[in-house]
Amino acid sequence: MIIKKDGAWILATPETTYVFRITETGHPEHLYYGPALLQITDELTSGDIAAMTQRRAFPAGNLISYDEEHPAVTLEDMALEMSSVGKGDVREPFVEVVFADGSRTADFLYDRAIVSDKKPPFKTLPSAHVTGADSPAGFSRLTLLLRDKAHNLELELTYGVFEDCDVITRSARLINHSDKPVRILRLMSAQLDLRRADLMLGTFRGAWAREMTRHETSVSGGRVVNTANAGASSSRANPFVMIYPGSTTEESGLCYASNLIYSGNHSESAELNAFGITRFMTGIAPQGFEWILRPGESFEAPEAALTCTKDGYTGISRHMHAFVREHIVRGKWAKELRPVLLNSWEAAYFKITEAKLLKLAKAAKETGVELFVMDDGWFGLRDDDSHSLGDWVANTKKLPGGLRGISDKIHALGLKFGVWVEPEMVNADSDLYRVHPEWVMQVPGQPHSEGRHQRILDLANPAVVDYLIEAMSRVITEAQADYIKWDMNRIFSDVYSPYLAGLAEESSQGETAHRYILGLYRLMGALTERFPDVLFEGCASGGNRFDLGILSYMPQIWASDNTDAISRAYIQERYSYGYPMNTVASHLSSVPNHQTLRVTPLTTRFGVAAFGSFGLECNLADMTREERVQIAEMIRLYKEWRNVLQTGDFYRQDGGSAGGRAWQPVAVNGFSKVHQWTCVSKDKKRAVGLVLQELVTPNSPYEIYRPRGLDPDRAYHFYNYEEKQDIRRFGDLINTAAPIHVRQDSALHRAIAKVYKMPGETEDLVVRGSVLMEAGIALSPAFAGTGYSDQVRHFQDFSARLYFMEAAE
Ligand code: DGJ
Repeated sequence: MIIKKDGAWILATPETTYVFRITETGHPEHLYYGPALLQITDELTSGDIAAMTQRRAFPAGNLISYDEEHPAVTLEDMALEMSSVGKGDVREPFVEVVFADGSRTADFLYDRAIVSDKKPPFKTLPSAHVTGADSPAGFSRLTLLLRDKAHNLELELTYGVFEDCDVITRSARLINHSDKPVRILRLMSAQLDLRRADLMLGTFRGAWAREMTRHETSVSGGRVVNTANAGASSSRANPFVMIYPGSTTEESGLCYASNLIYSGNHSESAELNAFGITRFMTGIAPQGFEWILRPGESFEAPEAALTCTKDGYTGISRHMHAFVREHIVRGKWAKELRPVLLNSWEAAYFKITEAKLLKLAKAAKETGVELFVMDDGWFGLRDDDSHSLGDWVANTKKLPGGLRGISDKIHALGLKFGVWVEPEMVNADSDLYRVHPEWVMQVPGQPHSEGRHQRILDLANPAVVDYLIEAMSRVITEAQADYIKWDMNRIFSDVYSPYLAGLAEESSQGETAHRYILGLYRLMGALTERFPDVLFEGCASGGNRFDLGILSYMPQIWASDNTDAISRAYIQERYSYGYPMNTVASHLSSVPNHQTLRVTPLTTRFGVAAFGSFGLECNLADMTREERVQIAEMIRLYKEWRNVLQTGDFYRQDGGSAGGRAWQPVAVNGFSKVHQWTCVSKDKKRAVGLVLQELVTPNSPYEIYRPRGLDPDRAYHFYNYEEKQDIRRFGDLINTAAPIHVRQDSALHRAIAKVYKMPGETEDLVVRGSVLMEAGIALSPAFAGTGYSDQVRHFQDFSARLYFMEAAE
């Protein structure tokens, strides 16, 4: 809902209100963004608006007055909707340009506003969509047109109000109406000047295999920055961030969040000035960016999604999950349940042959897998990572019948077939590079820095994008692919577009990184449109490009190359702050884990992976019959609960009985870290829970699981997945019970283990939702150096349990 009152614009969603006004000088001044001030159909009064408006009587010392006529208008101590350079606001600017005469002072003042209930797509970038018709109930849009009269440059600020998920999107566009080119040094997406001086910036940073470590930095003066200049949104700094006072917790307190619908270099910052205003900014990273805007041209910045809540991080996740599900992910797979897949990577790496793949596929089919994915290694001379990227033709030594042959055979087994590709890259040792060296980003005459022996194609060049659309179409068609894993395995270096350099008109290499992303979007857009039934999964060395730009084309992303369940518990939990769990692809892999060499129980590996878009990544064919039977049972269980796990609402529990904050990777008060998750169906009739312990806390038998998100007034049948124990996990303790002595790891030990499994504890109660959520459920006691029995939870290091809740009729 958008309302205008006393010169102020009020943007209202059920849980939030956003207010700004145009000052007498024509500057858009921010008045409020926060928890709802009014019912969506109500109006604010003149008194309400006056109360929010900062009265100004004089210029504070050493500040710049806007002009003679308005001495009290000093932009530096005002909360603004956008700021430029040179008129007194010396904080980080929203827009920075260089005019033809070399001057940089820009003064954008209000010209007019347009309100609409339509959401046209952006011209060059993905943007949030509104489902069904292009003017659905619950969406409205306000565009402010500001003008720098001296240079005839127009700045459009657009606000999209999404009532169903309490998100307000912001975006900006510059239009050059003059007859001279303008150099844009930055055009950010959203600026939010909050009149608070008590905020923290919460960020999700990391590295390969260690994505999404959570950080928070107090914004106590100066600027705190979360930026990536890797060419991808990157594992170094995810563009999703939160801003909140230190008192905010998982379940309560004021919290703001922002995410950017963009996959390239980005910057988020928070800066507290001397007048108690915290300026938040997000957009394309200004470092290295420059864009020449010719007369008559426009430049659009990516759309940013903002939200706010009184319900702590949980409220943020609720809003962002709904926004991503309803307005970012699109196409057939947005609402369809995702198949259980098996990916060949950790089973075979580059060493694939048709025989090996078919053996794996048969084992997969027998355990209930629905989609078989052939990962890297199938094309050219790809026996390691130094050859053949770019040569998208099957290696007939490995696949005698080519892509078509293996696809037919996999389909004949009753499985869907998926293929791995890395379209944006080329190895120097490839036919593509030999034929088209000019298609690659590289600085002429200079040695190129290496990343996984591969170079990046110049997607700023439209001919390269056109070529890739056809090359990838051939792969998808020949493979009759039901699924594509789209990888991207190096970050940018030596950024230089030979295409831009060769243009007749003046160009800037500062455009290259952004033009690359525009080319990438055109490529992904063309292919997803041409093959609407194919399920595309994004990937970039794992989570190096986990963002809303990619999710606008591909409904799920490989979250990390790290498949270790304990690492994944953190990684997935952190993605869950800003992204719904069905966007997070997660696989059960073998032990010792290939990234950490850690050994975790099968239930733990299954439980953690089941909370995302689930698959397997292991050599099923080499596993024992017993393991395969167990995995088959888990897949059966997953299918039974997949609807809840993929479409339900995900909740993190803060601390569990161990106390402490969910996101802190530390033991608290002497207790080991415990993760507690719950996923609840939309109708709240079914829920799945996971309790995962990192390290055993000795003599600590009692654990309380507190599910969240249930209907407090409903009774639930609460039960667990019985975890039968292999007696070898008790080592030589077997001798405390066995009538004869059993030497540990002896043939006898193995034989007993084969025929006898220790029964697991069972939970089976009918409990009210309110009791489950508030009091929690006291789980069976855990083994504590004593208490070896079938009513005891044998909960070793890295153990987990799955719990199920079904509304009792
Ligand atoms: C990196 C990906 O993240 C892995 O899953 C795998 O596909 C390899 N690339 C293949 O080269």
